[in-house]
Amino acid sequence: MRVEREVAPPSAPRKASVVAPANIAFVKYWGAHDLETVRPMNPSISMTLARSVTHTTVEVLESDGPPGGPSDRSSDEADELWLVTDAGELQASEGVFRRRALAHARRVCRELGSRASLRIATRNSFPTGAGIASSASGFTALTLAVRAALGESIEADADLSRQVRRSGSGSAARSVFGGFVEWPSDPADSDPAAVQIAPADHWPLCDVIAVVASDEKSVSSREGHVRAPSSPHFARRLELLDGRLKYARHAIADRRLDLLGPELEKEAIELHLIAMSSDPPIYYWLPATLDVLEGARALRDRGVPVWATIDAGPNVHLICEPDDEATVATTIAEISGVESVLRDTIGGGPQLSEEHLF
Ligand code: PMV
Repeated sequence: MRVEREVAPPSAPRKASVVAPANIAFVKYWGAHDLETVRPMNPSISMTLARSVTHTTVEVLESDGPPGGPSDRSSDEADELWLVTDAGELQASEGVFRRRALAHARRVCRELGSRASLRIATRNSFPTGAGIASSASGFTALTLAVRAALGESIEADADLSRQVRRSGSGSAARSVFGGFVEWPSDPADSDPAAVQIAPADHWPLCDVIAVVASDEKSVSSREGHVRAPSSPHFARRLELLDGRLKYARHAIADRRLDLLGPELEKEAIELHLIAMSSDPPIYYWLPATLDVLEGARALRDRGVPVWATIDAGPNVHLICEPDDEATVATTIAEISGVESVLRDTIGGGPQLSEEHLF
């Protein structure tokens, strides 16, 4: 006897777009207890950016999965993922990015009790995979756009931060919130969420990003988290971090760049010291990276308060106050090897957008 599977009629397609920001960490997440559940070995603190964003549109194609398809929609074969090129054309996404993004979109659907098929398009306002936290903005935008397309709330709270983090990108847990954000690491907490420690209007810091290479980095931060504990300097860093975190929280609360700046610069150098002394080693820096660090030192010698931080890539983020931003941007742009300068500031977090990408 042939049994017809009952298929609910698809509901009207729903589409939603979200613009979500990257963030720049002042105290970095580097090393994970477990990459599957994304539990960090240390707490981190970041500033959410305003202009370095991912814009993602999600359309619900069929609310109950493809007719005749598996009733458990753990498969993503009916989902579509498109990248929007600089020329505004849609290009089918492939490889690891497609696999990770669709697996996460599917997980979010499952967590919301939906078996919908999705059409997704996404675009970054900055070079992808070059140490400007594209995974943070990308997975935040994707999670929120899937939720919005399914009619769910995108209000920033601990549960939303956890849902974004389960993408595999820990830094994404922080991009759910605007302003200054901390992601604690409590070994007893198997599902850690980030929290906002101060809103964006608390302190309007700027991030002048010196792009010295815009191609994708050769070793992912995911791989960096795995290798980090093999560095002989890793354990010592964990010992020092408590003091550094207290210092950073205090400097942010009191808006003291003269206190925060030297700490965030030491912190970045330490991450790269660990990366370079991991087994096997990871060298993210290029010669121009050092030239920009030297440029920041020279600006300080001229009395301009600016300090540098570097994520898992060769590009340098120069943190300064609004009055010094133009001087920093124009001076750094003159350094040979700097391809472009992105001028960003602290931002208020993800937003729904009326502009759909398809
Ligand atoms: O979130 P992931 O796995 O891409 O790791 C981010 C690592 C750093 O950007 C280097 C540091 C951080 O805390 O953002």
